[in-house]
Amino acid sequence: MSKKVVSVWTSIPFWRRSAAWVTGFAAILLIWLTFDSMGQISMGTDADLKNGITKRVPGPTVINYNIDYKMDTRRGHEVPVIGEKEKFFGRDDWSEEEAAELLHLGKLGSQAKNCMNCHTLLGNGAYYAPDLTKAWLDPAWGPNGAYLGMTNSTTKEEAMSKFLQNPSQFPTHQRMMPNLGITEKEAMGLVAFLKHMSSIDTNQEMIKAMQGMQTAFSQSSLSNAAGIIGKNIEDGNVGADGVGKAYTVRSVENIDGEIQVKAQQILYLEDRVILPDSTDSTKNQVVNYNTAGEILDDKGVKTGNKIVLSKPGQPVISDGKLTILNENNQIITDHKYTLAGVSAAVYSDQLTNLPFSNITKIF
Ligand code: HEC
Repeated sequence: MSKKVVSVWTSIPFWRRSAAWVTGFAAILLIWLTFDSMGQISMGTDADLKNGITKRVPGPTVINYNIDYKMDTRRGHEVPVIGEKEKFFGRDDWSEEEAAELLHLGKLGSQAKNCMNCHTLLGNGAYYAPDLTKAWLDPAWGPNGAYLGMTNSTTKEEAMSKFLQNPSQFPTHQRMMPNLGITEKEAMGLVAFLKHMSSIDTNQEMIKAMQGMQTAFSQSSLSNAAGIIGKNIEDGNVGADGVGKAYTVRSVENIDGEIQVKAQQILYLEDRVILPDSTDSTKNQVVNYNTAGEILDDKGVKTGNKIVLSKPGQPVISDGKLTILNENNQIITDHKYTLAGVSAAVYSDQLTNLPFSNITKIF
């Protein structure tokens, strides 16, 4: 009698059991994660605040406390820190109901006036105006900031409320916030809403991960961009002569996450002039001349002779010959200067920094 040996990997009951276990485990993990997320994002209470229990989203009565932003060395970034009691519009005893009502008013106000159309709140919205998530902590509203004096206020909340009711009266940026017809009551709600929002411990671990990705991304763009070193580029700009500006790339750098090229501008192309050697053409001498056509020796000193140019780098040819003048501007007829038949780029002395994204042509 022979007993057939069956491998466990081909056993159907084994896979059935495995599937049941994996499904069960995943379901439990998912339920646990859901509860964990709910716990993380659910709002705390007044009792939590009184007992010093930290919640990512503190209760509405956080408006009765000072909110600061401090470095957390363990987490490696700044986090909101709820401090001592602090008066908000003259009171530090806003009840849970009163505070919740104020926040509700502020939240409705922010939706009705569409702050997100210009600002960002908790990662959502637009980038036209400053991010409002931590606006309450913006030093501009603090004792050394501009707003207290500008709005003739003694407290942050008073200054913010006056600003919101009449922003165009207190411009600080080049872009001005328009008057949105916000009433005093609405402004109070909005300020409470902003103060509460600033106390939320937003998930910066995510931001750090994103920053890491961004760095990796710019590293790879850098190595891609390095391929254009030595190449000629144009940035779409036109020089004084009406010709598109051209450059030769000397290096590529990552400056604060932006890829920049250092390039030397090609001022013009110069027709090469030589003094031919009668016996050996490899000993032909290249003649240096400047934009005015003045001939220079190997040390860059003017020789007194001059090539007549139609424009920088372009000698005039008459009867098949270059026109050369001596120091008295008289034409020398028995000279040996001749065109080499090639041209070379003449560069500016300075390097120009250009964002990689400005390049319109590579050649
Ligand atoms: C049409 C665009 C626009 C809308 C809508 C808008 N704002 Fe602004 N807001 C701006 C601009 C622009 C600035 C910067 C100008 C300045 O500070 O003078 C600004 C500045 C601010 C500041 C100061 C920012 C800081 O960091 O200190 C606060 C606070 C503010 N807005 C709150 C609000 C609130 C609340 C709403 C909704 C009720 C709102 N804004 C709606 C454009 C807008």
